[in-house]
Amino acid sequence: MTVVSTEIRLAARPVGEPRPTDFEIVRAELPELAEGQILVRNTWMSVDPYMRGRMDDVPSYIPPFRLGEALEGGAIGEVVASRADGVPVGATVSHFLGWREYAVLDAAAATVVDTAIAPPEAYLGPLGTTGLTAYAALTETAPVRPGDVVFVSAAAGAVGSVAGQLARELGASRVIGSAGGPEKVKKLVDVFGFDTAIDYREGLLSQRLGEAAPDGIDVYVDNVGGDHLEAAIDHIRPGGRIAMVGAVAAYNATEPVPGPRNLYRAAYQEASLRGMLVTSHLHRFPEWIAHAAPRLADGRLRTEQTVVEGLEHAPDAFLGVLTGANTGKMLVRLT
Ligand SMILES: NC(=O)c1ccc[n+]([C@@H]2O[C@H](COP(=O)([O-])OP(=O)(O)OC[C@H]3O[C@@H](n4cnc5c(N)ncnc54)[C@H](OP(=O)(O)O)[C@@H]3O)[C@@H](O)[C@H]2O)c1
Repeated sequence: MTVVSTEIRLAARPVGEPRPTDFEIVRAELPELAEGQILVRNTWMSVDPYMRGRMDDVPSYIPPFRLGEALEGGAIGEVVASRADGVPVGATVSHFLGWREYAVLDAAAATVVDTAIAPPEAYLGPLGTTGLTAYAALTETAPVRPGDVVFVSAAAGAVGSVAGQLARELGASRVIGSAGGPEKVKKLVDVFGFDTAIDYREGLLSQRLGEAAPDGIDVYVDNVGGDHLEAAIDHIRPGGRIAMVGAVAAYNATEPVPGPRNLYRAAYQEASLRGMLVTSHLHRFPEWIAHAAPRLADGRLRTEQTVVEGLEHAPDAFLGVLTGANTGKMLVRLT
């Protein structure tokens, strides 16, 4: 059986902000299934800020996307043909060959997900790598202790919205979030349970953070870098902990971005700034899913998702996640 599938390829390496012309949509014939492989019809795919880095031809923690080839990323789909024991037709799987309608892959590269405990797309968000990132950041990279004041940036996004709620659960006395625009800021307090929220587009960020945390902050989850990291260092308490999770403010930069100008303050506050990669924490997925799924089901963990319909609109969804078009996880539903 020959399967022809639509896929999105990288047509050109973006310079600065990506443009729609950096992507092309192509119909391609898939290879026959080999022993041990499955054919998956993708139903959902993820677009993530880190994909911007993979569009540049530079060495990093993950190889660059190849020009003229289909992009990759997290996806959920249904197995429609199988030559693998243990992954039957009809199973819902999570895997890494998104940006395409159908995927042929080794069954070992797919994980069967339990759709009885959560909807399939949750495995790309709160029960996927963004949820796990928040969990690892606040339990390992910059652990929250009871009574801590915690600051989270990009707080209305996929990682940030879970991080704020987790910080509270871990005993934070005050949780502060920052996001772009009045609607998101309102949602941080009304929906995601932050004590207070800062619209980073209004006023001086460091001053606003100082007003929100007059005695300083103990933990900062840095999703943004740049001015946010500098503001957090301005207010870090002695022994404070900063989880360096991402630097979305700099992903489209065409020149190296200067570091925070106040690093010496971190030195004399004996603060720690520690990087993290979720791929180093994948062994904690079962623990995280067991913790989060019941909370997601009964509403103790509140999440949102922004859904873009249709594979052909995946590039728009990707451009949107870099500019704040999303609240919660940005997803593409393949129809
Ligand atoms: N280390 C890891 O293993 C790992 C894993 C997953 C994610 N991450 C990182 O974590 C961060 C969040 O990822 P996510 O998937 O949860 O994305 P997300 O927060 O759902 O979406 C990105 C958000 O970044 C905000 N943003 C964009 N430009 C900004 C700027 N110049 N200043 C401040 N905020 C800006 C936008 O929200 P506003 O509307 O609020 O501006 C946008 O919604 C990213 O930096 C990502 O690379 C790291």
